Parts: sequence; structure tokens; C-alpha cells
Amino acid sequence: MTTDIINIKLLVGTRLKNQLLRGKELAQLPYIEDAYLRIEDGIIAGYGKMEERSKTSEKSAIIIDAGGQFILPAWCDSHTHLVFAASREEEFVDKIKGLSYADIAAKGGGILNSANKLNAATEDELFISAWKRLEEVSKLGTGAIEIKSGYGLTVEGELKMLRVIKRLKEKSKLCIKATFLGAHTYPITYKENHQGYIDVIINEMLPVIAKEKLADYIDVFCENGFFSPAETETICKAGMGVGLKPKIHANQLNLSGGTQVGVKLGAISVDHLETMDEDATKSLADSNTIGTLLPTAAFFLRMPYQPARQLIDTGCAIALASDYNPGSSPSGNMNMVISMSCIQMKMLPEEAINAATINGAYAMELQDEVGSITIGKKANLIFTKPISSLAYLPYAFGSNCIDKVMINGEFL
Ligand code: NIG
Ligand code: FE
Repeated sequence: MTTDIINIKLLVGTRLKNQLLRGKELAQLPYIEDAYLRIEDGIIAGYGKMEERSKTSEKSAIIIDAGGQFILPAWCDSHTHLVFAASREEEFVDKIKGLSYADIAAKGGGILNSANKLNAATEDELFISAWKRLEEVSKLGTGAIEIKSGYGLTVEGELKMLRVIKRLKEKSKLCIKATFLGAHTYPITYKENHQGYIDVIINEMLPVIAKEKLADYIDVFCENGFFSPAETETICKAGMGVGLKPKIHANQLNLSGGTQVGVKLGAISVDHLETMDEDATKSLADSNTIGTLLPTAAFFLRMPYQPARQLIDTGCAIALASDYNPGSSPSGNMNMVISMSCIQMKMLPEEAINAATINGAYAMELQDEVGSITIGKKANLIFTKPISSLAYLPYAFGSNCIDKVMINGEFL
């Protein structure tokens, strides 16, 4: 089936070939004014200026008149914890009243609170709530998404989460990648026996995950008081042994060494990066590992934002993601992520859009399928409401500028 979208005011992110963008390249966002886009069986089959379309001989079966709308590639959200059993707004209120992260953890809050609730929930309950969140974020423009485990912290709980993600992959039209984050924190029973829990991850969780093909990546929360760089390396190497590439939580609260471990292991990405120094920045810039910035987590936790300008100017390849989770970023709204990146981290709108599309696609190894308007890629598209310019998208934070979302050539 052929569909032609005509009268597109601005077709954004048109790329002849794929390239992970770093440094000054991140600000290069190609576009075509007054454009058309041809889709065949859900795949981008052609695009160009409107006047070029009239020269094509092919008769289109379906014509969609974009009537002056902007069209962009759908967002690629490369870091989420979208499967969870319950929200944690009681901790949010406790924090407003002055409790610290440590106070909340001492009251049984934080990741362990989510783990207790997740272990009490059924696979079906988790699937239903995760499906609703997936529907919500897809309407907000997300067309590809990575989802982590990490709220089970038991063999059954972690496998249950990964099976939920597998079901989401099977049922959803979105591109989904699964990440095993058994090493999110130490469960209470292993508080004094770290090696014991690492053994459970390596000897009990990973073999089943490998056998049932439940994950694409392995993640570790490399942080003071959580997993050390040496423990991170041990766990990632075990994951790599069964074909899982690392994507690591690094440098969120401290200079944890997570970035350097990720670079050393050839991780696809190191994520968070609120706390960076020259050494960590340089090691990332000299590598093929992507730095994934999660500004809504910094916002929600009232932390300093990621030093995006420094990272970009040093030559790091960066992506933007939502970190959607109940503890540090209870929102999967990538439009907000992009606004915050421009407002608080001084990213140019073009840089933020590239980081949330093509570079996000690279951070999920989906660059051949999504992330740009390129022949052969999926027609995963955002149709904007009438806007005056591309910069209006991040500028009008909180306004929903999205009119419609198309996944695989079909409107949601
Ligand atoms: O990415 N930093 C570690 N993990 C999550 C938050 C976990 C939670 O509080 O539930 C994050 O921010
Ligand atoms: Fe996270």
C-alpha cells in the first residue's frame, strides 16, 4: 500500500545516510520546506520538495494532506523503567516536607519500595499498567523505547518484569528494547552479602534470561552505596558472555567511575551523567559510547542538570531520554525532556531534537529502523499542530504541540 503525505510545511530530520552525531554535527538538523513523503507498507519510500512529487509517475493509493503541519521522526526514548507496580507520590510529598533520599530509604522507600510492590503484583497486572504507560508515551510522540527490569531484585521478580517487556514487544507496534537491570540495588536479604546477590544475578538470573531471550542489554546502577566499578565490570562481563551489551547507570549522584567502566567495556551508552569531571568527560568523548542525558530526573530530584554543553563541546555523542520511573522521573514525556534540555542545559533546539531521535536510535542500536526521515526506515512520525518554527516546540514547554502520531505508516 502506498501513501503520500503532501503539503508538509517542514519535513525535519531528512538524512541520506546514518551517522551518530557528536560535537558541532549535533546542531545539523536537515529539513525540506514544502515537502512530500511517500510511504510504502509502513516504510519510508521517498520524499522531497512538493514540486518534485508531481514529476513522479507512480499513482498513490492514499493521499494525506498535512496542510502546513511540520513532520518529524518520532522520539527514540533510549532509557526508561516503564514497568512498575505503583507510583510513589508519598515519597514525593515526604521530600517536599524535607526528608532526604537516605531518610526515605531508611523508611523502606526508594527502589526497595518499588521492588516490594512489584513482587506482590501479578504479571498481568504489570502488563496492563505498563501497556497504559506505553500508549500514553506513544501519543506524546515516542516511537521507539528501551525498557529496563530492576524492580524485581529476586529471580522471580526480574524474570516477571522481563517477561512483561517481552509481551509488550510482541503486542506493541513500537520498537522496544529490553534491558536487564538486576543490579539496580542490593535487596535487603543481601545487604551484607553483596557477592551473594552478584552470584544470584550471574548464576540464576542470566542463564534463564539468555535461554528465553528476555533481554537485549545489561545495566548496572554504578554508584557509591550501590554497585562499585569493579562489581559493575563483573556483572557486565557476565552479561556480555551471554550476548548482552552494557548500558550503564553512571555518574548520577557521584563521580562513581561508571563512565570509565562503561567506556572500557565498550558500552552502548552510559546514562545520567549529572556528576562529571574532566577525566570522565574526556574518556567518553574519546569513545564510541553514547552519553545519555536524563534531565527530567535531575529536575525531579532537584539536582544540577547534566553538563550538556561541556559534553557536546568536548565531542561526546549524546542522546536524550526520559528515565520514566516512579522514583526519579514519573513522566515519559519526551517533549518535556527536549524543552528542559534547551531551557536548563542550553542545548539548541536542533541539538535536542537530534539527541532525542537519531542519537537515541543509536543508543538502542535501532539506527537502521528509526530516528530519521530516511528511505528504508519505518514511517514513525510526529505531525505537529500549526507552529511558527521548529524552536517553538521546546519553547512552548508544557503545551502539547503534537497533533497526530504515525507508527509504521498508520496513525495511532
Ligand atoms: O534511573 N538511578 C537509579 N534508578 C532510577 C531511579 C530508581 C528509583 O528511584 O526508582 C533512575 O533514576
Ligand atoms: Fe534510570
